[in-house]
Amino acid sequence: MAATGSEKQGAGENAKAFYVSTPIYYVNDAPHLGHAYTTVAGDVLTRWHRQRGEKVWYLTGTDEHGQKIMRTAEANDVTPQEWCDKLVTEAWKPLWEHLNIANDDFIRTTEKRHTDRVQEFVQDLYDKGEIYKGGYEGPYCVGCEEYKLPGDLIEAEDGTKLCPIHKKPVELLKEENYFFKLSEYGDKLLALYEANPGFIQPESARNEVVNFVKQGLQDLSISRSTFDWGVPVPWDDKHVIYVWVDALLNYATAVGYGANEEKFASTFPANVHLVGKDILRFHAVIWPAMLLAQGLPVPGRVAANGWLMVGGEKMSKSNLTGIKPQDLTYHFGVDAYRWYFLRAIAFGSDGSFSWEDFSARYTSELANDYGNLASRVAAMVGKYFNGALPEATASGDAEKAIHDGLTKAVTDADRAIGEDLDFQSGILSIFSFVKQVNGYITEQEPWKVAKDDSPEGKARLATILYTAAESLRAVAVLLNPVMPETSQKLWDSLGAEASLGALSAQPVQNAATWGQLPVGATVTKGAVLFPRLEEKPAA
Ligand code: ME8
Ligand code: MG
Repeated sequence: MAATGSEKQGAGENAKAFYVSTPIYYVNDAPHLGHAYTTVAGDVLTRWHRQRGEKVWYLTGTDEHGQKIMRTAEANDVTPQEWCDKLVTEAWKPLWEHLNIANDDFIRTTEKRHTDRVQEFVQDLYDKGEIYKGGYEGPYCVGCEEYKLPGDLIEAEDGTKLCPIHKKPVELLKEENYFFKLSEYGDKLLALYEANPGFIQPESARNEVVNFVKQGLQDLSISRSTFDWGVPVPWDDKHVIYVWVDALLNYATAVGYGANEEKFASTFPANVHLVGKDILRFHAVIWPAMLLAQGLPVPGRVAANGWLMVGGEKMSKSNLTGIKPQDLTYHFGVDAYRWYFLRAIAFGSDGSFSWEDFSARYTSELANDYGNLASRVAAMVGKYFNGALPEATASGDAEKAIHDGLTKAVTDADRAIGEDLDFQSGILSIFSFVKQVNGYITEQEPWKVAKDDSPEGKARLATILYTAAESLRAVAVLLNPVMPETSQKLWDSLGAEASLGALSAQPVQNAATWGQLPVGATVTKGAVLFPRLEEKPAA
């Protein structure tokens, strides 16, 4: 059976890395909120696994061939390569840096390390008899770079056939092409889905794919001869390789397929391919079939995120709100941005973005619940203990409830974020612990206990503040994959680095081990974690 995403990854030199990919995005335009959504999710997932101490490989990149890119470049009077170079260096890479994406590699499909291996892969399939020459005629959507089945199309009011995703007219294409015998893989794919129920996530996506495959698969046209912006078919250079075959292979070429055996063996296949549900079939049907045909292992999981919607439609270049990721990070900050979409929308479900909802959650959950807790605790350790963390010598039931709450938060968050890709539940578990600590402080009223000069009073005050600070230590660790800059500020304010070391080296699964912050740690009132929002800028 194929490797699965739930297998535990090791940390040793030769261990298989926990390998996660994003789609490689089309560079016909700058990235928008939808692209950033998937990439941030992958970043949180991989940071979480790194912080479990696992070996991790996080891959993203760009899809640069095909008609869509070619037409955009033509419309802008530059060569496709010039267009891609400009977009990658001026828009895509800078956004990922800005959003603090810790990808290990960035693959571009125009790179030689990719194109050479794509040719070898396709030649290999040809030599194995998996590819034949034939003709095809059908409706094609350039936006999707995909032949559509007549049943997939929707109709405009005037009867024009439209792509259901792009809502644009399809083009009737007729070509002599090379075909991959995809139709022969239906049963093998169904067996794979059956043997590995977690292969496609969420359940609704899995059902869609299973039904699609059960209807019977057609062979796949894998070359195009009416334009030349692509990787030439090695045995017939009048054709270029179909952009999706080229693109899917990035997941293999980027990790050493055909070039670096050791790297390939210790990385491939991906544990998780993150995709939007628009490109689920490519990843859950065509990609595993290509791998099966080549005798290569299939991925552990294909996880489809839902769509960010605007006005009831999938957010896309043509119907954007006019809001760029940078407009939001400018107002809310990078960390809040990383947090918001995963917090507000169940991964796998569609969701709408609203400025008002973001503002409201920022203020109540980040600034009030979390930020205020951190600053209040630091202020009280400063005021009552001169900033030296006191010892907890008088713990009782209230403290036990906090320890238990933390244990539950860690268990729940580790399963939700690390295994289930249920970022929303994971984040909620951590924040319900934050709420619990807030409640604890409200009930314990340390400012009143501080007026009690007796040894018992002093011991209670010390215990309350130690408990709160130690809770915050764990929160900083747990939220580090989601909001790394803010967690670092908190880590610094708790004086944790001196005794515990780097924040990123703190294993998430051990975050509930109590008593890690040493007595005497230097607690300072650090930078405000979530400053008050300015008035909403005029739209
Ligand atoms: O499809 N909501 O690239 P692409 C959520 N090059 N996610 C969204 C989104 C939205 N409104 N809009 C985009 C391609 N995405 C191919 C991929 S992979 C071998 C080749 C995200 O630029 C989501 O992950 O159209 C979606 O699948 C992806 O961007 C599509 O990006
Ligand atoms: Mg698209």
